[in-house]
Amino acid sequence: MQSAAGKTGRSRPLEFSGRLNRAGRSEMAELIRYFLEEASPEEISDLAFCAETLREKYYGKSVYFRGLIEFSSYCKNDCYYCGLQRSNSKARRYRLSEEEIVGRCALGRRLGFRTFVLQSGEDMYFTDERLCRIVSRIKTLFPDCAVTLSIGERSRDSYRRLYDAGADRYLLRHETADEAHYRKLHAPEMSLRNRMQCLYDLKEIGYQVGAGFMVDSPYQTCETLAEDFLFLRELQPEMVGIGPFIPHKDTRFADYYHPAAERTVILLALVRCLLPKVLLPATTALGTIDPFGREKGFRAGANVVMPNLSPPERRREYSLYDHKICTGDEAAECFQRLAGRIRKAGFVPDFSRGDPAGWRPRARRN
Ligand code: 5AD
Repeated sequence: MQSAAGKTGRSRPLEFSGRLNRAGRSEMAELIRYFLEEASPEEISDLAFCAETLREKYYGKSVYFRGLIEFSSYCKNDCYYCGLQRSNSKARRYRLSEEEIVGRCALGRRLGFRTFVLQSGEDMYFTDERLCRIVSRIKTLFPDCAVTLSIGERSRDSYRRLYDAGADRYLLRHETADEAHYRKLHAPEMSLRNRMQCLYDLKEIGYQVGAGFMVDSPYQTCETLAEDFLFLRELQPEMVGIGPFIPHKDTRFADYYHPAAERTVILLALVRCLLPKVLLPATTALGTIDPFGREKGFRAGANVVMPNLSPPERRREYSLYDHKICTGDEAAECFQRLAGRIRKAGFVPDFSRGDPAGWRPRARRN
């Protein structure tokens, strides 16, 4: 086994990044295993140094704010880890009206947000027609804001229409790039191939695309994580969403192992080194399992935070996992406190649109 300096190229972030970008399957799995299971605290901080240096090269100390609106908790899918899965009869279902969604954006705009992330389960009530109307209303009212959609798998045609209506970005975590692993986490009618195809379609249409996965999801191994890294390297997404898996009491994985934040932090740093220009959120899930989880994430290369802009009375009902934080500093109304914490940790809260470094928008049809 190589020395620590050999692993991260101590103080040589570009070289380490190059190594991750050349690694084959087994070397990738071995690097991931090493950092998750064997590395010393010094080696981990060396890795974080590499990640921070690369983030700073493109984004400085900025941490970008996005307002998250969870507009429907209905979902037609059965993802076995998720509290919103169709077969969870205990889940509370709600849908925001068009007026409520636009109203939450208006509130967000007044608070200073320039990106709205509209997220929901796969809710067929929201047809292309309804969604396009919502997106174009938001873009007409707030032309200086970006709209991000996170509404699951749809047809290429639907993605195209939403893009033409003004949507800028799309988040669709691939969840795992390993076929056998994917099968263990999802109902038989879902497919990894289709999910990956959606991501390629979105990219080709011109969206800024976000993929991603949970850390310590059931049956995850260093080999499946290596597949995730190889897939990210091929897709070259503009954003990557990574958060810890947190069991939900009404799912088959209710009693599953509850991970420590450190593992997510290591994987955030590795993803930053793999894709230096990526926009990388320190997720709510990370803030849920560790009160300083997000600060730890920023120190390991994360540079996005997504305060909750949903109607406060709905936040608890959008229950992907247990004990989701939603009333403290992560609430959009309390963003000043979150901004204060970010400053205290040595970073600069940034309320601009926060496009990827070097981003050149493609011409739209209309
Ligand atoms: N723990 C952590 N994250 C979860 N997600 C779904 N269920 C859980 C859970 N139990 C994540 C998925 C999904 C995103 C919206 O939330 O990765 O893509």
